[in-house]
Amino acid sequence: MASADIRMETLTPPSTGTPDKLVAHQTAAKKSRRNIWIAITTLISIAAIVGIVIAVLISQKVIRVGSSSSSSAVSGPAATSQAAEATGGSGSGSGDGSSPAPSKTDSSNPASNTSSGSKPTKSSSPDDEEEEPEEEPEVVCPSPSDIPKASKGTIYDPTSWYTLEGFNCTFTTSTIGSLPLIGLNSSYSNTARANPNVPPLTKPWGSYVTRPARGVNLGGWLSLEPFITPSLFDYPKSASIYDEYGLTLHLGPEKAAKVLEEHYATFVTESDFAQIAAAGLDHIRIPFSYWAVETYPDDPYVPQISWRYLLRGIEWARKYGLRIKLDLHGLPGSQNSWNHSGRQGKVNWLTGPDGAVNAERSLKIHDKLSKFFAQDRYKNIIAFYGLANEPGRDHDINALIQWTQSAYKIVKDNGIDASQVMSDALRGLGEWHGRMTGLGDSMVLDGHEYVIFDNALLSKTHSEKIDFACKVWVEQITGSMNTATGFGPTMVGEWSQADTDCTLHLNGISNGARWTGTFFNGSPACPTGDKQCSCELANADPKDMSPEYKLFLKTWAEAQMDAFEKSWGWFYWTWKTESAPLWSYKAGLEGGIMPKIAYERDWHCDKPIPSFGKLSEIL
Ligand SMILES: *[C@@H]1O[C@H](CO)[C@@H](O)[C@H](O)[C@H]1NC(C)=O
Ligand SMILES: *[C@@H]1O[C@H](CO)[C@@H](O)[C@H](O)[C@H]1NC(C)=O
Ligand SMILES: *[C@@H]1O[C@H](CO)[C@@H](O)[C@H](O)[C@H]1NC(C)=O
Ligand SMILES: *[C@@H]1O[C@H](CO)[C@@H](O)[C@H](O)[C@H]1NC(C)=O
Repeated sequence: MASADIRMETLTPPSTGTPDKLVAHQTAAKKSRRNIWIAITTLISIAAIVGIVIAVLISQKVIRVGSSSSSSAVSGPAATSQAAEATGGSGSGSGDGSSPAPSKTDSSNPASNTSSGSKPTKSSSPDDEEEEPEEEPEVVCPSPSDIPKASKGTIYDPTSWYTLEGFNCTFTTSTIGSLPLIGLNSSYSNTARANPNVPPLTKPWGSYVTRPARGVNLGGWLSLEPFITPSLFDYPKSASIYDEYGLTLHLGPEKAAKVLEEHYATFVTESDFAQIAAAGLDHIRIPFSYWAVETYPDDPYVPQISWRYLLRGIEWARKYGLRIKLDLHGLPGSQNSWNHSGRQGKVNWLTGPDGAVNAERSLKIHDKLSKFFAQDRYKNIIAFYGLANEPGRDHDINALIQWTQSAYKIVKDNGIDASQVMSDALRGLGEWHGRMTGLGDSMVLDGHEYVIFDNALLSKTHSEKIDFACKVWVEQITGSMNTATGFGPTMVGEWSQADTDCTLHLNGISNGARWTGTFFNGSPACPTGDKQCSCELANADPKDMSPEYKLFLKTWAEAQMDAFEKSWGWFYWTWKTESAPLWSYKAGLEGGIMPKIAYERDWHCDKPIPSFGKLSEIL
């Protein structure tokens, strides 16, 4: 507006004049000179206005200025000279050190990769320099030449990462508890809340007895499991790839790092965290394995890349107000001999030839992890700290208790105030009555409840399964929660909607199902126990399922939620699978077999079990 006023003034003709010719001539000359000046001033003013307007539009990102390289790709010599102009106007532009024009800095800095590129209009008026500080501070990611030789291609080298999304790309080798801070932003905000029924992260959760956790696992993400992502295990049986160990051994270090990082980056994204919160869930259990922290000689596992994704996952959870349960899922040597521990076959932790060494290694891992997660930034978000997922049933219980007590002390002494979590070690909650007690709320017992890995439970009818959840599980949980006669704090860290073990690879690669009697040539364990036992319906897409089966599945899920809320809460296994809808909360929501909002449910254990109509008890 100010410059428009000035232009009006200069256009106003002078009101004075004299009769003298010479004077008149001089006046005319003066006039024409003045006219020229007026024209020049006007042009400069217009140019300045146009410049300011364009600069504002650029800074608001209404107009995008292409980078010099992309514009030169469009057309020939003209574009090339434009590009030369953009990099400093002289055309020589190979860093001759002479004082650069303001617009030169961005594009001549090799470390810079910003899109601000050329702004030829900006230099037309000195006034525009005031606009510079108003530009958003752009994140400048390093280029390979900025990475010190010793760090090139290591986990610290952001130029080697599969994606920079959500990561701080600043090069740093800083560690805490010897674990890298890579990829983390310095600032964070705890103001989000998962839903209106739960406190934001800034406020304490309160009692888990009166407000149980409702969560999901991010299974098969940072610790692979064949049935969750069969596409990663799509090899002929002769390749003998049953687990993450076999897969990474087969691929070799470079290819394994590529394949796994692509999986980490694509299988779980920010939108998963948003959807988890939108489903009325408030906690996430994140399984990860020891190779996120370190590896040992002869390990084929991909070292430490998953660490960065774990940290980013926690930050995304924070953004949606979701609290975290850390779960060390694979321990050195394998604590349970199952595929999801990393390596199936035999236990070599606590017991086995290297049992003692590996038990000691896992304590060192907890030392590092707990030092790292004792940072202030994790105090409000890490609600539970899991010590070891599902140590096998065959461990000597006293050796297991001793290891658990050592781990507990290390973690506590390093400053973790969150409740720690120990598995019931697949012995059932009752086995822990009176053991490891006296730790109050700082230790929670974790039971994983399924009806499908045991023929007696598997062969129950639909309504018997629901009845079992509402009666037997509730009884077991209530017994465990009793601090006088049971254990104390108890939670259900895994459960699923599956009512059969039909899912492909669930029992190990191509191992068949108990349900149909194809698992180690057992007899069929569906309710009729004969040739009628079929996996067809259980493996169908929810959209092709009968309304009766869908009603059963939803009721079955709600019955379990209700039962498990007698404990400190539950974590569904798992959020997402490639092709197993009865193991995917996300697919369950999409298929209409899960309550849309986890805390708004149609059925609970006090209600009569609905009729499932024509649904055959066989399937
Ligand atoms: C820099 O920009 C180029 C071209 O836009 C792009 O191909 C490259 O991936 C970018 N590098 C980084 C480190 O962002
Ligand atoms: C970290 O900060 C960068 C730059 O401000 C942002 O793009 C990124 O999303 C942040 N990461 C997370 C996890 O919030
Ligand atoms: C990125 O990381 C560096 C090094 O740790 C830190 O100084 C910087 O503040 C971080 N950037 C953001 C946006 O948090
Ligand atoms: C593989 O993992 C599944 C799912 O947790 C488990 O039921 C199965 O027993 C495991 N199979 C083997 C052979 O380890």
